[in-house]
Amino acid sequence: MSQAIYPVRPEDAARAHVDAAAYERLYAEAAQDPDGFWRRQAERLDWTTPPTQIGDWSFDEADFHIKWFADGALNVSANCLDRHLATRGDDTAIIWEGDDPADGRRISYRELHADVCRLANALKAKGVAKGDRVTIYLPMIPEAAVAMLACTRIGAVHSIVFGGFSPDALANRIQDCDSRLLITADEGRRGGKRVPLKANVDAALAHCTSVDTVLVVRHTGGEVTMQPGRDTDYAEAIAAAAPDCPAEPMGAEDPLFILYTSGSTGKPKGVLHTTGGYLLWAAYTHETVFDYRPGEVFWCTADVGWVTGHSYTVYGPLANGGTTLMFEGVPNWPDHGRFWDVIDKHKVDIFYTAPTALRALMREGDDWVTRSSRKSLRLLGSVGEPINPEAWEWYHRVVGEGKLPIVDTWWQTETGGIMISPLPGATDLKPGSASKPFFGVLPQVVDAEGVVLEGATEGNLVLAASWPGQMRTVWNDHDRFFQTYFTTYKGKYFTGDGVRRDADGYYWITGRVDDVINVSGHRMGTAEVESALVAHAKVAEAAVVGMPHDVKGQGIYAYVTLNAGVEGDEALRKELVQWVRREIGPIASPDAIQFAPGLPKTRSGKIMRRILRKIAEGEVGALGDTSTLADPAVVDHLVANRVS
Ligand code: WT7
Repeated sequence: MSQAIYPVRPEDAARAHVDAAAYERLYAEAAQDPDGFWRRQAERLDWTTPPTQIGDWSFDEADFHIKWFADGALNVSANCLDRHLATRGDDTAIIWEGDDPADGRRISYRELHADVCRLANALKAKGVAKGDRVTIYLPMIPEAAVAMLACTRIGAVHSIVFGGFSPDALANRIQDCDSRLLITADEGRRGGKRVPLKANVDAALAHCTSVDTVLVVRHTGGEVTMQPGRDTDYAEAIAAAAPDCPAEPMGAEDPLFILYTSGSTGKPKGVLHTTGGYLLWAAYTHETVFDYRPGEVFWCTADVGWVTGHSYTVYGPLANGGTTLMFEGVPNWPDHGRFWDVIDKHKVDIFYTAPTALRALMREGDDWVTRSSRKSLRLLGSVGEPINPEAWEWYHRVVGEGKLPIVDTWWQTETGGIMISPLPGATDLKPGSASKPFFGVLPQVVDAEGVVLEGATEGNLVLAASWPGQMRTVWNDHDRFFQTYFTTYKGKYFTGDGVRRDADGYYWITGRVDDVINVSGHRMGTAEVESALVAHAKVAEAAVVGMPHDVKGQGIYAYVTLNAGVEGDEALRKELVQWVRREIGPIASPDAIQFAPGLPKTRSGKIMRRILRKIAEGEVGALGDTSTLADPAVVDHLVANRVS
């Protein structure tokens, strides 16, 4: 733990929407009178029917429900577009920076509005109706934001699947929510390489019957097969459509989007967010945490395939009438200075990225950074995983030239937006601490039995009250929603994270306490990787745990028991890595595979992951109690054959 404290700079306090005194006042108001507080905050959105009902929720099993602004109605695309037209129709809504530095576009609010209306009309012409699901499988190009907003315009529910996911992973996500229509591109570009999106779609749709229409954006011009009757050129579809389309008034609790995320068990969950509460949370946190004002260029580097891209590349900035930068590429191509070059090129004011990217760039030396000016930068942000103090200090000292504040924002797909974070004009910074809860967020630290711990302490992080941006259900599985989040500690939302609270009331997230690993800021369920491995013909059993990784934060360590008679060698290791990449996607590639004739199990057959984690971490001297194992000799073999 770093002891350093960076006080709020007077200039940040002076310009801020929220300074230290306002933070205390607003936090207290939201805690004491949530309905009054959120009724006032809801006024930042345009409602076709303003809500009179505010928070209505219970985390108790007998009466389990979560609603916010339930009798209100609004449209998300109207809030992100139409209401800005009169005052800033010609302002830039989206700056697009292609993978190739020579590719780029600027799109005004007026242009974006017309594009969204055209696509909304095209979707309607294809038979998409309110409530229907649309899967989006696109690279980071403006059409991704257009597709999201077009869905919201007509009340269709989007489900974005990250372009790095395999055909199988895509097929599962299409099937789970029964999408009718899919929007994709011929190919994506990343670091000079091409990603065969349409070919992946063709492979996925071989297993899906629900999709009858595919819209294909011609992005790279790469060769694709178009299936007559099913596949339509995106440009053709929108060319035929009118540039205006009424925005459908939606109930605040109508579904807005589904986003699949990994859990500790089973297949990925379709996290459902609804219209009013989510948009309010994205907009309000974006304005407050980044102290955002229209005219500033905001760059969140996350892909729209992740929740960060939903809330802070698209919905938050656009709801606030801002300018958002969408970047198709990667941090290290054409060279390691790309981020900083883009910041200078587009005069970025606020830069929001993940620790894994910072760690990777840090290793390449400071010159890549210092050759740029970064004069436009005012604020830095971090998200996705705990930021180690070394990376924090580098970000601050080298990127921020020792001047810029860093907001380390803790949140989850489930929370819709930022939950614990410093505010640049209000919170003194401690490197590595997400610091203080946002308005309406009531964190508690509990022990394994659920006893609430007070003061400076360490334990599991729960949230004692609902907030407008909270997910409402797991698509098609409301019981799983309740079981996953509200049964570990009755009456509370369990985050799955461990946390420490210091004497100043600052929160320090220590990482997942469940079987979820965080690889480069992306969530991976160990069970998912295990089931991919055991699907291989030569594998009898697999157990997957996280291991420390310098760049990724956590890497994937797999213990694999092969079928009798199969020899584990380097070739099979490579084959299994390829296999998992194909089953799930490159982000699930195991970093280490250890062939294990046996796994440590209790007499009742339960794999003792605690031991596997310790071995993967290299802490073989601290394996703890192994007396309950069915065969303690298994452990000696594992330790002796550890892969490092
Ligand atoms: C998990 C959620 C938040 C959007 C991107 C990831 C970890 C996230 C932080 C942070 C420490 C963090 C947690 C959380 N996490 N941000 N600032 N400090 N840990 O969303 O894929 O739903 O993952 O990411 O473990 O539970 P996600």
